[in-house]
Amino acid sequence: MSQQHTMASTDLPASKKKLLVTGASGLLGLNLALQLRDAYQVTGVFNQKRMHQTPFELIQGDFFVENTAEKLVAEVQPDVIIHCAAMANIDACEKDQEKAHYINGVVPGKIAFEARRNKIRFIHISTDAVFDGVDCGENGYHEEDRTNPNNVYAQTKLLGEQNVMDQNPDALVARVNFYGWSVAQNRSLGEIFFQNLIQKKPMMGFTDVFFSTLYVQNLVRILDRLIHEQASGIYHVFSSDYQSKYEFGVSIARRFGLDASLISPVSWKDSGLAAKRSPNLIMNTDKLQRLLGVSLPTQMESLENFYQAYRDGLPELLKKTGF
Ligand SMILES: NC(=O)c1ccc[n+]([C@@H]2O[C@H](COP(=O)([O-])OP(=O)(O)OC[C@H]3O[C@@H](n4cnc5c(N)ncnc54)[C@H](OP(=O)(O)O)[C@@H]3O)[C@@H](O)[C@H]2O)c1
Repeated sequence: MSQQHTMASTDLPASKKKLLVTGASGLLGLNLALQLRDAYQVTGVFNQKRMHQTPFELIQGDFFVENTAEKLVAEVQPDVIIHCAAMANIDACEKDQEKAHYINGVVPGKIAFEARRNKIRFIHISTDAVFDGVDCGENGYHEEDRTNPNNVYAQTKLLGEQNVMDQNPDALVARVNFYGWSVAQNRSLGEIFFQNLIQKKPMMGFTDVFFSTLYVQNLVRILDRLIHEQASGIYHVFSSDYQSKYEFGVSIARRFGLDASLISPVSWKDSGLAAKRSPNLIMNTDKLQRLLGVSLPTQMESLENFYQAYRDGLPELLKKTGF
């Protein structure tokens, strides 16, 4: 484990809480660390992808190495941990089930235990894919609805949730689905649609897969609120409405002034994807809305923030931190 001090964190007021973000080289972790760096003293954990010019501290850690969680906690002594690191590629999880089981299923419990032992707030990032998407009812899946993961990624993420709650009942498990700008420029469906459309490449869009995805910066704002609320247990953190993946692609094309006819409407069953997908992941967010007392962003509001971040140069800024 090696530490790379990038900017003078000693300039920060002593009152700032220390936030440890795992998976800081990933889509969520990096956006989260960048967005919350003024509110917290942020340390981001990367594994293989070392970044540069990040305006927060970085530390290397591989969760396959024994005692990594203990060492990170001892070194950083955070007040809050947000655990974003995972094997998040669905097809990679099918290919390497043992690794997926360990990283997505076992490691979250180890970090949750360490957080509890050291009285650190712990937020674990999970997924809408814990549901099979067969029947979410009219109002979408609630937190307590029956889970039934239908691929290795989802099974291991569900195990991770269970281990977290077993080891640390005060932890918060946020089930999410998000998109945003990343270093690799292809880590989210939003970026993939954008990149293909801007290069005038034809794409498929599933008309029979529905989701309540949220732009990552909206997600981060809500996670920050949940930290302040000291929320614990499972929460659904999604947009207040939903779209099919086809409609999502068409909305992106329209907002960015690109050619929506490049996207062909297709069924996921004809796509040849290796892992089975959950077709109907409409998520109910009543519990979160009750806690926060605000309406959550709609798909269109979320997309507007994705567009504004593009106009403000976020993709270029992220490229500069590139691996
Ligand atoms: N993307 C989505 O729409 C989506 C949907 C639902 C839930 N989620 C959940 O959201 C979280 C973040 O996803 P993401 O899309 O941001 O992931 P991502 O871009 O694939 O990033 C994964 C991160 O995990 C780190 N990591 C992987 N193996 C590691 C190991 N052995 N030790 C330490 N770090 C390791 C990676 O580090 P290096 O790259 O440096 O090796 C990287 O920073 C995950 O829990 C995922 O399951 C994502």
